Amino acid sequence: KLPQFNTIDDVATLLRNSKNIMVITGAGISTSLGIPDFRSKTTGFYSKLLERGINEPEEVFDIHEFDYDPRTFYQLAADLLPDHKHYSPTHGFIRLLQDKGKLQTNYTQNIDNLEELAGIDKHRLIQCHGSFAGATCRKCGHKVKGTEIFPDIRAKRVSRCQRCKADIAAQAAAPKAKKAKKRISTPYGGRSDEEIDDNIPEPGVMKPDITFFGEQLPEDFFDRFTERDVKTIDLVLVIGTSLKVAPVSEMPDFIPHHVPHIFISREPIEHVNFDVQLLGNCDDVVFELCMRAGWELKHRMVPKG
Ligand code: OAD
Repeated sequence: KLPQFNTIDDVATLLRNSKNIMVITGAGISTSLGIPDFRSKTTGFYSKLLERGINEPEEVFDIHEFDYDPRTFYQLAADLLPDHKHYSPTHGFIRLLQDKGKLQTNYTQNIDNLEELAGIDKHRLIQCHGSFAGATCRKCGHKVKGTEIFPDIRAKRVSRCQRCKADIAAQAAAPKAKKAKKRISTPYGGRSDEEIDDNIPEPGVMKPDITFFGEQLPEDFFDRFTERDVKTIDLVLVIGTSLKVAPVSEMPDFIPHHVPHIFISREPIEHVNFDVQLLGNCDDVVFELCMRAGWELKHRMVPKG
């Protein structure tokens, strides 16, 4: 018979005794920093989109929609950009698990890349949905640091590839046959003798390295989970996620029953089985857990607004 875990003290004891902990996180661990989650009623990013008349909010992260018209994403993504100066106490808690040699892997669905700021080792972190840390041209594959496109995201304008732009400028400067003059319609119905070149290419659109719906998750996600973590972890903590998006939502069900499953979030989960659900603000819950485990969680800064 498997041991029973019921109380917050049981979870604190599990924390003390476990050696290889898997932590699965979602947007709820960053809301105390002012970054909205997705599905909370009234405050979630998707509810804001619904208010603006976008009836299928997940389409903002659909790769086919993005390629068809990237403007929608660029008009809306600024709200999700972190300031990269602060991480939450829950990030600090995951770091504490790492410092105690207990963190096996943090699977995060978050794209804010705040795990890096919190000092989570790269080899213990799987960013299941990618992140804003990098960006790639959809046309030529040119890669840049994510921060290079932040000014465009903040200005709500589509970010274009600098390498494509440079290539186009070089092509335009090269000697070539005289362009054909073509009469075209102006928007006002008149005619114009403007010289146009049908072959002028457009620079590619930069896309943050976020995994959009319709794109593959990173290769290391599947390998690490099935080949290593599922076989060796002795505790799984799922924090601040609604577990609505596969395949992350299916992870807890693949972890053997003898590994205690703990859920920490504001709202209870009914569609996945957990041994204990600790409901509340996750920063408060992790402080309480650390206190009961006899650990000091030093990180206390939660900026407002
Ligand atoms: P959700 O918005 O679906 O779920 C976040 C959960 O965290 C909600 O159930 C909240 O109740 C809870 N929550 C919010 N603030 C909290 C707090 N301070 N303390 C405790 N709980 C809190 O976000 P995710 O589950 O992360 O995909 O969403 C999964 C994916 O859906 C995202 O990665 C995103 C989205 O489409 C992409 O970006 C590609």
